Amino acid sequence: MANDSTARIVDGLRAWIAQAPPGARVPSNRALVAEYGASPITVQKAMRALGALGLIESRPGVGTFVRAVRTARPLDFGWQTGALRSPQARIPALSTPLRSSSPDAIGLHAGYPDRTLLPERLVRAAFARAARGESALSRPDAAGLPALRAWFATELAEATPAGLTPPTARDVVILPGSQSGLSSLFRALVGFGQPLLLESPTYWGAILAAAQAGVHVVPVPSGPAGPDPDELARAFDETGARVFYAQPNYANPTGAQWTGERGEEILEIVRARGAFLIEDDWAHDFGIETTARPLAVHDDAGHVIYLRSLTKSVSPSVRVAAVIARGPTRDRILADRGAESMYVSGLLQAAALDVVTQPGWRTHLRALRQQLRTRRDLLVGSLAEHVPQAHLEHVPRGGLHLWARLPDGTDLDRLARDCETDGVLIAPGAEWFPAEPSGPYVRLNYTGPDPGRFPDGARVIGRALEHRHGA
Ligand SMILES: Cc1ncc(COP(=O)(O)O)c(C=O)c1O
Repeated sequence: MANDSTARIVDGLRAWIAQAPPGARVPSNRALVAEYGASPITVQKAMRALGALGLIESRPGVGTFVRAVRTARPLDFGWQTGALRSPQARIPALSTPLRSSSPDAIGLHAGYPDRTLLPERLVRAAFARAARGESALSRPDAAGLPALRAWFATELAEATPAGLTPPTARDVVILPGSQSGLSSLFRALVGFGQPLLLESPTYWGAILAAAQAGVHVVPVPSGPAGPDPDELARAFDETGARVFYAQPNYANPTGAQWTGERGEEILEIVRARGAFLIEDDWAHDFGIETTARPLAVHDDAGHVIYLRSLTKSVSPSVRVAAVIARGPTRDRILADRGAESMYVSGLLQAAALDVVTQPGWRTHLRALRQQLRTRRDLLVGSLAEHVPQAHLEHVPRGGLHLWARLPDGTDLDRLARDCETDGVLIAPGAEWFPAEPSGPYVRLNYTGPDPGRFPDGARVIGRALEHRHGA
């Protein structure tokens, strides 16, 4: 209520200031109290807001005045160009999936699910309990809260086949999101200038983390069935690489889920070369027709380094993930984490653990599966109807996105700009390729706000393609 009144006064005064000459005296607080029927505190708040915007200035004992527009001396940071030198890698300031969109836009570009798909009640209750608990005031172990590490280990252990040794809490290191885990893994396990094999296309954030770590990226073609084993073997042999980063379940962006056979084949190639597979199980909670089947459960010799995040399924504010690694690798990773950020907020860890151990979490995941299915099918149907030029190589059985190929020659940047002009945000596919794109793709997220507008979004894409780029 008070906020609304403050905003009303700020808006009213801004309009008044816009037509007032610089230096004009602003009506007194008393006059404003009378004019707006607001309390003196509300008027003071509004005046502070206008002051912070640089629109008014108060001279104590004299009054408040419309600020004279001063032509500020342009600041010159040119000297920094020389001091900074060229960056080791040119990294975009903001990747498309991280762009904010206005509430009116149809956002098909984002990487995180809309808040209506999150377990809001569980998250709020977990934060309230965590705030009252021990973790709000203490420093957790560097590797993370023991109970949370045990939860991550148990999740994998429950799926581990008989005859293999399951991971334990000791093998788990808690991370502030898996993105920062990727940077650690590339730094700690690959090293500057050394080769890293990546699926192509693959997650844009992995490409950036690799560039940041200064590793030498080697793309391995990957499609709806996962990477081609022969190509992978050749890439290992040609480069002497010891690390392959991949997403066996609902890959971002293709949505591919490897079959058990393909997984075993890939694991065999990795084992035979004494190498590591970094398995990014980012969409573990987003199965639709199938469930995620971590490859890590088939390895107890330390070849698979398993990354599992909760930030997308619990809440983007609960920035908690885990890496599970066996042997000295785990110590190498923990050392890197210590140097990077020492430990992850215990409050966030406690909140994450609270959410995933509530009975409501399982119920939420069951409902989510149905919501994802409905949304995915709606977007698939909308594309089929309104964007006949788009080709889906397959309908993903989980994850958050569709990966659609557009006609050859499509100017994706221009298409994205045209769509944005008409209020639809899409993600051009080039950001998912470690080298040149193999074709014009777009990634479309079916978990953004307001799925009822998917058909409108698809209509805009179809029209933009038709008008500007030919059918
Ligand atoms: C494949 C993949 N890995 C990792 C991440 C990073 O997730 P977070 O840092 O939120 O755990 C993302 C986010 O989009 C992703 O798509």
